[in-house]
Amino acid sequence: MSENTDMNLPEGTPTPDELRELSRNLLVDMVPMASFSDDPFVLVEGKGIRVRDASGRWYIDGLSGVFTSSYGHANERLAGAAAAQAKTLAFGMPLYAANVPILKLADRLLEVAPGGYAVAKFTAGGSEATESALKMARQWHHLEGRGRRFKVFSHYRSYHGATGHSLAASGGVAWRSEFEPFAAGFIHVNPPFVLQRRLGLSEAAACDAALELIEEAVELEDPDTIAAFITEPIMLSAGVRVPPEGYLRRLHDILRRHDILLVYDEIITGFGRTGRLFAAEHFGTYPDILCFGKGVSGGYAALAGLLVQEHVARSFWGREGENREFRDGHTYGNNPVAGAVGLKAIEYLVDDRLVEHSHRMGERLAARLRAGLSDVPAVTGIRGLGMLRGIALDGLGAGSPPLGPAVSKSARERGLVVRGGLDFVALGPPLVCTESEIDEIADLAIAAVRAVAR
Ligand SMILES: Cc1ncc(COP(=O)(O)O)c(C=O)c1O
Repeated sequence: MSENTDMNLPEGTPTPDELRELSRNLLVDMVPMASFSDDPFVLVEGKGIRVRDASGRWYIDGLSGVFTSSYGHANERLAGAAAAQAKTLAFGMPLYAANVPILKLADRLLEVAPGGYAVAKFTAGGSEATESALKMARQWHHLEGRGRRFKVFSHYRSYHGATGHSLAASGGVAWRSEFEPFAAGFIHVNPPFVLQRRLGLSEAAACDAALELIEEAVELEDPDTIAAFITEPIMLSAGVRVPPEGYLRRLHDILRRHDILLVYDEIITGFGRTGRLFAAEHFGTYPDILCFGKGVSGGYAALAGLLVQEHVARSFWGREGENREFRDGHTYGNNPVAGAVGLKAIEYLVDDRLVEHSHRMGERLAARLRAGLSDVPAVTGIRGLGMLRGIALDGLGAGSPPLGPAVSKSARERGLVVRGGLDFVALGPPLVCTESEIDEIADLAIAAVRAVAR
């Protein structure tokens, strides 16, 4: 039994045999279930930045679940807000009515969000949000008399969600191949870091080249057929890639010249994750539509959504018979319990100055990782901003297995959960981490990398 193990399990925790049996009834996404159900990893509780599994072992949640549990686990303020609202009005009439918590959340969010957004819309998850943003872009062009515009541009290696159009916009073959063909009109372009690596360019030259190729692709595809360009400001799945200086601003200039909407997917990067409320603040331009998720509720309710600029929003502001209503419609859209949780999360971020805290803790984490890994040849850099960080890993040579999954496994054995990509490891600790918790996370991550990449 490890020092992190505590056998005083919550009442009702099934025995290991029962858990094995129970886990044969479930599909967990992205997990090989036959192996999983032989020895299932089952969580029973969380406290602060830690979660405990059914064997009694505690782990540091170094990924905030999946960039979501920003306020830590068993947070009384958020859990209390959800419980109180569930007892008052748990569900509304999403196709006919609003409710007070969701109205207050929209109002507060528009007040705190930079960029001058005019309206908000709430969904139950990030894929619904990106999907809605793409539908909104297309319907907007229809409403504005440009009905031929349907194409969507995005980056290779991006991830925008698991549903039809959000997956079609995603640019990784592993997620996509078994579901093709997708609907027509999803065009992918290379982000600057790919050109930099492949062509041996400087970052600035790769930025220029990527933008030149994008403008050429826009012209070759016919701008009159293009509705939107969707991108994560920091591309997580591509290896926590921060774009070069000026890239997103210049991209937006190109799109504006051709009446193409820019959509940011800030599902991961929003709500303080990068040391600003939204990552857009780092990059000098605000998109026409900004999608958020995850940290907006910290996992205490299923909540995501969109912020929409005035010039787009006003097209959807009609009266009966004008046919301007946005043709979305989700059962869990604008949900009151989610609204109450989101409102409490914003209060928490503002009152406890969590965004500034995220910046400071993120800098501390990065500095400690850099110092602890500077002599490991396989580590080629520490990427990211705020509490969204990536350890970039070089392979150990042709034919050797990728390091990311091995580092992730090694970290888990040490009691730290992180995400292993092929050539990187991503960290996204809860924003509420203290300095000593950040140091503990960094030390465990460094030990995990060193054990694998000796
Ligand atoms: C950048 C990005 N966009 C969209 C999504 C989809 O969000 P969800 O899983 O809530 O549907 C994710 C999920 O991880 C994501 O990382």
